[in-house]
Amino acid sequence: MFAITGASGNTGSVIAERLLAHGQKVRVIGRDSNRLTRFVQKGADPVTASLTDAEALARAFDGTSAVYAMIPPNVTVEDVRGYQETVSDALVSAIRKAAVTHVVMLSSIGADKRERTGPVVGLHYLEERLNAIDGLNAVYVRAGYFMENTLPQAEVIRNFGIVGGPLRPDLRLPLIATRDIGAAAAEILRTRNFTGKQARELLGQRDLDYRQIASEIGKAIGRPDLTYVQLPETQLRPTFIKMGMSANMTDLLLEMCDAMNSGHMVPLESRSAANSTPTAFETFVAEEFVPRFQARSATA
Ligand SMILES: NC(=O)c1ccc[n+]([C@@H]2O[C@H](COP(=O)([O-])OP(=O)(O)OC[C@H]3O[C@@H](n4cnc5c(N)ncnc54)[C@H](OP(=O)(O)O)[C@@H]3O)[C@@H](O)[C@H]2O)c1
Repeated sequence: MFAITGASGNTGSVIAERLLAHGQKVRVIGRDSNRLTRFVQKGADPVTASLTDAEALARAFDGTSAVYAMIPPNVTVEDVRGYQETVSDALVSAIRKAAVTHVVMLSSIGADKRERTGPVVGLHYLEERLNAIDGLNAVYVRAGYFMENTLPQAEVIRNFGIVGGPLRPDLRLPLIATRDIGAAAAEILRTRNFTGKQARELLGQRDLDYRQIASEIGKAIGRPDLTYVQLPETQLRPTFIKMGMSANMTDLLLEMCDAMNSGHMVPLESRSAANSTPTAFETFVAEEFVPRFQARSATA
C-alpha cells in the first residue's frame, strides 16, 4: 500500500494514477473527498485529512510501505514558515508512528541551503527532520522551476501585453513540467530501490531563460513580438498582495527570486540523462498555457 499526500494536486495526482495503472494499492489523501473520487473509481482507498493533523495522518499512513510526502503551498497564510513547520512536524510524527520504511518527498533546488531561499527553507527543514528518523529510507526529489509557474502570465499578457516578473531575463532556469515530477516520483516509489537518505535533482527537459519563455509563449499565441520585462519589487509587492498573497508569502517569494537571481539557489548536479525529463516547454505551452490563455481571452 502506498500513501499519497496532495493526491488531487499537480504531482500527487500523476503519482496516484501511475501507481493505480500498475495495479498497486494506493491510499489517496486530501481535504476534499470529491477531489479524490476519480482515484476511488480506479480502486484507491480515500482518506480525508489535513496535513496539519498528525493523528489523522498516522491513521492514513498505517499499514503503508511507502509514502509520497509534500508540503502543499499555502500562499494566503500569514506565517508561512509556521505553517510549513506544522505540516512537516505532522508528517514526521505520522511517519514515525506508522513505522513507514520508505518516503519520497517533494523538495526543490535550493533545499540544500538553510536560509535566504524563501519558502524553500521549509523544504530544507522537512528534509532535515526526515534525516533524523533512524532506519527510514528517503529520497528528496529536488525539482527545478515548475513550468506551471508561467501560467499566471496569461493574465499579465492579457492586461499588459508583456511577460513580467522578478527574475533576471538571462537567468537560465531548469524548467520542469509537474507531470514529469509525478512520473519520476511514481517510479521511485514503485521500485523502492533506495536505502538511506538521498537527494536527487530533477531539472526538466532543458534550461530556458524568461526571454526564451516569452518567445515560446508568443509564438504559440500568435504574438511573435512578445517580450519579457523584469519588474522591480516596488511594483511586484502590491501586485502579489492584490492577487491574494499574504505579506509574509510575498516577502518570501521575493527572497527566493533574489536567491535565484544572485546564484545562491542553484542546481548542484550537472544536467544528465538521469536528472532530465521528457516534457519540452513547447509541449507544455501547447497543451496547458494556450488553453488557459484562450479561456481567459474568451471571458475577458
Ligand atoms: N513552484 C515551483 O517551482 C516548485 C519547485 C520545486 C518544488 N516546489 C514544491 O512543490 C510543492 C507543491 O507541489 P504540487 O504542485 O504538486 O502541489 P499542489 O498541486 O499545489 O497541491 C497539492 C494538493 O495539496 C492539497 N492540500 C492543500 N492544503 C492541504 C492541507 N492543509 N492538508 C491536506 N492537503 C492539502 C490540495 O488538495 P485538496 O484541496 O484536495 O486537499 C492540493 O491539490 C510545494 O511544496 C513547493 O514548495 C515547487
